Amino acid sequence: MFPIKRNRRLRTNEAIRSLVRETIISPNDFLVPLFVVEGKGIKDEIPSMPNYFRLSLDLLEKEVKELWALGLKSVLLFVKVEDALKDNKGTEAINPNGLMQRAIKTIKNACPDMLIMTDVALDPYSSYGHDGIVENGVILNDESSDILAEMALSHAKAGSDFIAPSDMNDGRTLKIRQLLEQEGFKNTGIMAYTAKYASAFYGPFRDALDSAPVDLVDVPKDKKTYQMDYGNRLEALRETLIDIEEGADIVMVKPGLCYLDIVREIKNEVNVPVAVYQVSGEYAMLKAASERGWLDHDAVMMEQVTAIKRAGADIIASYFAKDVVKLIS
Ligand code: PBG
Repeated sequence: MFPIKRNRRLRTNEAIRSLVRETIISPNDFLVPLFVVEGKGIKDEIPSMPNYFRLSLDLLEKEVKELWALGLKSVLLFVKVEDALKDNKGTEAINPNGLMQRAIKTIKNACPDMLIMTDVALDPYSSYGHDGIVENGVILNDESSDILAEMALSHAKAGSDFIAPSDMNDGRTLKIRQLLEQEGFKNTGIMAYTAKYASAFYGPFRDALDSAPVDLVDVPKDKKTYQMDYGNRLEALRETLIDIEEGADIVMVKPGLCYLDIVREIKNEVNVPVAVYQVSGEYAMLKAASERGWLDHDAVMMEQVTAIKRAGADIIASYFAKDVVKLIS
């Protein structure tokens, strides 16, 4: 008999294909990153992220209502901090009346059921653009983790539902969990960036928040002493298992597309939800190529987010969330 098996029967038309499709994208898959700035009426397009904006609080309110109406129920907040407020210890990060803290309250007011996750790392607040305190050319681990725990507590007090430490210092998940428990925030969750690589795909994000490491003597030019080496696989598993032990409710792999082997590996090993961050550079690449007419934007976007989910992502943090949901609804 030839051929032994006709696999093409299951691909004959869209009806059969949709019947047997294993991975289906829905609004429930997404976590929407949002960039917040001071001011009023500001909707500032990020040059390296076409059609993505920094929003002032009034327009943030409008945006979350729009997301909610589209069925997007979770956001991940980042703030752009004014230069004058930056210092080596990221002091502004724990200001109870800081931009992040006000953004959380604004969203809770405007859209009480929206799930709010907040980025915890010093880089937007650091005069050196690092995710921790810089001393003699070194990013201090333990001292930085103490500040991150304070920052997490401050977000929890403002109403954040999930703390998302994105710094990659050792032990910060434990310090955050302990402080939250101690202060009575036992229901505030932690989504830890557990396998976060020292990637060149974060460029547009650093433009958006003006958070790139500064060019000064005695300040490391990159984040390779704390973010992971992209040649490594087993290390990602090690990092992830430790973060779960330390109290992470959700673990994360970042970036997305170049790291789908890591996503699958982690998904096979752990029993907590796995999030994947399709980062700014991944967004920028597709926007640039499709602007030139070299790629079909919507088709490639769907292929990418489906691949991320197929690899094992339970949650996809993506700048494409809104575009995807508009396309499939
Ligand atoms: C900062 C942080 C970064 C991103 C999320 N949190 C940048 C970095 O580590 O330098 C990148 C997100 C993106 O590129 O979309 N701790």
